[in-house]
Amino acid sequence: MNTPSPTGAAPAAKTSRSDAPAAPPQVVEVGLGDRAYDIVIGRGVLTALGERLAALKPGAKAALVSDVTVAALHLGAVEKALAAAGIKTARVIVGAGEGSKCFSTLEQVCDELLAAKIERGDVVVAVGGGVIGDLAGFAAAITRRGLDIVQVPTTLLAQVDSSVGGKTAINSTLGKNLIGAFHQPILVVADTGLLDTLAQREFRAGYGEVAKYGLLGDAEFFSWLEANAAEIFSGGPAREQAIAHCCRMKADIVARDERETGDRALLNLGHTFGHAFEAAGGFSAKLLHGEAVSIGMALAFRFSARLGLLPKSEVERVVRHLASVGLPTRAADVPFRWPDADRMMDLMAQDKKVKRGKLTFVLVRGIGRAYVTREVDPNDVRAFVAGELA
Ligand code: NAD
Ligand code: GLY
Repeated sequence: MNTPSPTGAAPAAKTSRSDAPAAPPQVVEVGLGDRAYDIVIGRGVLTALGERLAALKPGAKAALVSDVTVAALHLGAVEKALAAAGIKTARVIVGAGEGSKCFSTLEQVCDELLAAKIERGDVVVAVGGGVIGDLAGFAAAITRRGLDIVQVPTTLLAQVDSSVGGKTAINSTLGKNLIGAFHQPILVVADTGLLDTLAQREFRAGYGEVAKYGLLGDAEFFSWLEANAAEIFSGGPAREQAIAHCCRMKADIVARDERETGDRALLNLGHTFGHAFEAAGGFSAKLLHGEAVSIGMALAFRFSARLGLLPKSEVERVVRHLASVGLPTRAADVPFRWPDADRMMDLMAQDKKVKRGKLTFVLVRGIGRAYVTREVDPNDVRAFVAGELA
């Protein structure tokens, strides 16, 4: 791990973020050749959005896609930043939450982009969490056979994960993210100040994806998180450091394996189990994506320990940390009547990572030592899941 420096420092006292002097923005490049783009991270970086966009696409109009909640809180500031650079805007607003990743809302967004006369040389700007990023990104990928997309992520989850890497999708009744396209953004602007209005439960769900980076490939970062989680939650400098570190890790993986033929699958740690739980919960507020990932990661660690891949003490350490920030780590942590193991196996079988009928799993040999395998006996998985649901 390069940054944040793993000082092991004790969590800082809670600070008032708006009074804190803004640190200079951090810029992470996603190295994809002629499709390379910057992720700009920091408090207040939104004010430079217009300037950056005008430099990339002189004369372009911008369609701002957002949800009702984010629009009420932050769209005015986005419009102001774009107007300052002379960029004309149109608004496309959809309902908030996972339910908007569906065909009917996708149709609404595409139609409104066309009605606003957004042309090939214009740009779509996704202002919101992962739902808006995935939905607007997919709409941009298919409208007029492809419009450029800028991501302005407003949740922790979107700032560390979904806004970067070009995966876009909606859900099908048959499973999560099954209809989509790879469509890289031309710019990501992650203003950490926007997280100040995010509900605690949503912030916590996003922290599940932050922890994922340590668990999949950076044990030192996981130790740093154990020491600095309190400051990340309270909004101290550790928050920006953690976001930038996750973006660097993701940028590195995406640059190596954009289309997920290898290493990128590591980013799915906890997702095979997690997506099944999310689908079983009806993609609803009963279980947020990041919460499902948290349960899924705990299951991936417990299942790996059952296979003898790592000692139980490692599993306990992971579960202790996730639980310490209030994330669920077991099905029973969520008050919901889960389907039985056979139904969960059916849901897992719909995973995009199934190849010739074989499930792909991300298992672990320890914290920071994840690997991808197809050599998992479905009977072992069924028995394990049945035990977890009991
Ligand atoms: P989300 O977009 O639904 O946002 C969560 C809630 O927070 C919404 O109600 C939203 O209105 C509200 N909100 C957003 N920003 C806010 C702010 N600044 N202040 C106040 N409220 C705010 O959910 P999410 O957790 O950001 O994203 C989850 C989605 O991301 C899932 O659909 C998941 O599949 C997807 N995802 C995609 C990728 C990818 O690589 N494309 C990676 C991880 C997750
Ligand atoms: N969130 C998984 C990926 O981007 O590959």
